Amino acid sequence: MPHPVHRPRRLRRTTTLRRLVAETDLRPRHLIQGLFVREDIREPVAIPTMPGQHQETVESVRRRAAEALQLGVGALILFGIPASKDAEGSAAWADEGVVQRALRALRTDAGDGVVLIADCCLDEYTDHGHCGVLSADGTVDNDATLELYGRIAVAQAAAGADIVAPSGMMDGQVGAIRTALDAAGFEDTAILAYSAKYASAMYGPFRQAADCAPRSGDRRTYQMAVANAREALREVRLDVEEGADLVMVKPALTALDVVAAVRGATDLPLAAYCVSGEYAMIHAAAAAGAFEERAAVLEALTAIRRAGADLVITYDAVAAARWLVEEE
Ligand code: PBG
Repeated sequence: MPHPVHRPRRLRRTTTLRRLVAETDLRPRHLIQGLFVREDIREPVAIPTMPGQHQETVESVRRRAAEALQLGVGALILFGIPASKDAEGSAAWADEGVVQRALRALRTDAGDGVVLIADCCLDEYTDHGHCGVLSADGTVDNDATLELYGRIAVAQAAAGADIVAPSGMMDGQVGAIRTALDAAGFEDTAILAYSAKYASAMYGPFRQAADCAPRSGDRRTYQMAVANAREALREVRLDVEEGADLVMVKPALTALDVVAAVRGATDLPLAAYCVSGEYAMIHAAAAAGAFEERAAVLEALTAIRRAGADLVITYDAVAAARWLVEEE
């Protein structure tokens, strides 16, 4: 019988040995909880394709935030669902817009004890569902949209956002937002750039939750083609030049190679977004008895960290933080 000289199993023998040699750490502080806050409801409304997630009221989002903070979750990212939409998406920058109201409430509750991120985009607010304003020919007008993104960012900063996160994939959005924030005196508000955001089928449940699927056409003229990886590095480089403070790859699980490549290309903090469809796949499969939910969620989040993400945006942040705290 030949005896192997090399026995990697030696370091896998006990829980404590495995912990000692773990290359990747998943902690609550690495997780960013995604939350939907809706204007015209009095009670939270369940999101059918995202079991366990709700459209929250400003009051219920305060309870969710308190829970997240208590568990040590790193940050919250807010998405708004306004009572009414229009062609420009004007509710996005309204002083009394639902995200601005939620930001002020959460800041009052927790002061600097919470990191608040605001998704900075128009698709939840436009009646046509695109991430920018439309030209006469129906295409998305890049440069006209930049001016509106600046307004949204300033409104979010004024309401207390630590970080604004432009997700619309317009060219020049990071630079335009930086200029607008600085001009309004918000030099210390940071920008998390959705730098490499793919035109993905995985955003389906989010679009139901926020009622923001484009009414005509799709997002392929602004979001990246799934076939491309080098282009992601170019998008990151441009965002860094324009003044991004953190960068993001989205989705996460179908773009782990891109997460790893971007990790090697920038020294900025890197986030990866485990999106609604990825959440839906895991939870639907677990509900069907395919595997254990907790193990699958923690495996997915650890894999995203292992690929090189410092931060993971996930709808499972609170649940995962609870499991991680329990494991301690
Ligand atoms: C755009 C935005 C979207 C998501 C986050 N920001 C929708 C889209 O681009 O179609 C999707 C996130 C998810 O699926 O979890 N404001």
